[in-house]
Formats: sequence, C-alpha cells, structure tokens
Amino acid sequence: MKHYLQINDLDSLQQTVQEAIELKKEPTQFKKLGAGKTICLLFFNNSLRTRLSTQKAAINLGLDTIVMNFGSEGWQLEFEEGAVMDQGKAEHVKEAAQVVSQYADIVAIRAFAGLTDKEADEAELVLNAFKKYANIPVVNMESSVGHPLQALADAITLEENKTAQKPKVVLSWAPHPRALPHAVANSFVAMMKLQDADFVITHPEGYELNPEVTKGCKIVHDQEEALKNANFVYVKNWSNYQDYGQVKNTDSNWMMTKEKLGKAKFMHCLPVRRNVVVEDAVMDSDQSLCMEQANNRTFAAQVVLKQLLKDL
Ligand code: CP
Repeated sequence: MKHYLQINDLDSLQQTVQEAIELKKEPTQFKKLGAGKTICLLFFNNSLRTRLSTQKAAINLGLDTIVMNFGSEGWQLEFEEGAVMDQGKAEHVKEAAQVVSQYADIVAIRAFAGLTDKEADEAELVLNAFKKYANIPVVNMESSVGHPLQALADAITLEENKTAQKPKVVLSWAPHPRALPHAVANSFVAMMKLQDADFVITHPEGYELNPEVTKGCKIVHDQEEALKNANFVYVKNWSNYQDYGQVKNTDSNWMMTKEKLGKAKFMHCLPVRRNVVVEDAVMDSDQSLCMEQANNRTFAAQVVLKQLLKDL
C-alpha cells in the first residue's frame, strides 16, 4: 500500500481487520518496525481521538512522531497552480509538502470540508496536493469527504461484536445544531459495501448523501421501519448534501433513544452531543460500543502504519 486515503486502498478489509485484532493482543510486537523513522501529523482541524490514537499507534510501532496544528500554528497555504501569491497565502503547497517529506517518512493529514463549496470539497485539495507533491506515503486522518481510519476502527468493532454471520447494520441520521461534514458517513458506507451484512441507511427525505457513495445501498426514510431487527445501529449527523452544508432539519424525533434501539448495539464515532444526537440512557448503557470504537482507533491506525512501513 502506497497511501491510505480511503478504505478501498486496503488490499483486503477482512484481512486487515484480522491483522488489527492480532495486533491488539500484543500491541508492541512490531516495535522495531518503525525504529529510526518519523511520522508527521498535520492538523488543519482539531481532534481528540485521531491525534492521540495515531500518536499511540506510532509509539507502539517504534515511530517517532512530530505534530503540527497547522490550522492554528501555520499560515495559509496556496493550492492553485500558477497563482500570483500577492494576497494572504504565504506558502505554496508544492514547497510545504516537499519540505515535510524531508523531515518525515510518512505524513498524516486532517483537513475537513469547508461545507461552502461542494466542488472544492470533493476535489480533496489538501490531501491530493500532498499526495502529488510529497514523496512519502500520505494517510487520511479525516478529509473533506472521507474518514477511513474511523471506518476501519468501526469494521474492527463490528467484527469483534457480531453474533450473526450476516448482521443487520443500520446507519441512522440524527439531528445536530451545527453543520457537520459527510466524511464519517461516506466512509462508513464505503466500508459496509465491503461487508457481508444486511445494510440499511435511514435519514429524513432530502438528506441523501452523495448518490455516488450510496449507489446500490438500501435507503429507508421511515426510521422505525429501518431499525426493525437491527443488530447494530450507527448514528451520525451530516449536513444537507443537496443544499450543500445547510442545516435544514433538526427534528428531535430522529434522536436515538433506548426504546428505538431495542436490543441492538449502538455505535457513534464521537464526539457526540448527548440528548441531541442520542439520549443518555443509550450512551450510559452496555449496548454502547463507543468506547470500543475509540479504542480500536489505535489499532486501525497501527495496522495501516504497519502496512505502509513494510512497503517503504
Ligand atoms: N472520531 C474522531 O475522528 O474523533 P476526533 O475528531 O476527536 O479525532
């Protein structure tokens, strides 16, 4: 594997999940693999889990880590070819990416969608520019349209908790007061397409994700109907895709409750707004897998870094 930009970059999701489960048994067993090598984590947006779990994964592999919160500590980068840089942008990504490549053996990047310009977000400007101009592997720590480290952690969590060969998994939209990106939902859908599962997406009418992403998926607008006999319910808000980045619905009837969840396991990538997205009774119950998902972020990152290190 050269880069990890989307879940489909893995040769095999199933084999990678099994490899991660093995790594969990003895996390430092490949401590020598990263010796003498460095990973640079560049954050254009904030993080709790992604920053700490990726750093922990690097430590487990013996990698040195350098972190820069580029959004608050750096200056604005120019991404346009041939730009006359006489305005606010101080450095072109051409130089920035090459410079980072001199200091590190792998670069991992977080750069969220701006949610104002669909075309620009879908062009994945930051990630693709680093892929083009850096000469080291690039890891996606959540980009405009995808969060494949989260999706891999979710796949590990599903594998560890499933009791049926072909579980029913429901991705349910939930209300949120702020406009959130589509990245987590997009990558969860992409990951579920690689699974042997009865997969259903439920959201209010008008809240369709990118149809290219959900092509072939079952979509049910009646949440109660969708949740029937579910084994896993993955709850996530996303802002409107058609009226790009708008919050057009905050209907609290879509909040996940203990009653709606039934006997299913509850999943969410975190951070989550309690009693808006999901009620306390779910979060505080033993049906919640959120802590397992967060723990598996380390092993998702670790298995990806291990595969990249092997191919360096
Ligand atoms: N789930 C997730 O990516 O969490 P952070 O935003 O805290 O990294």
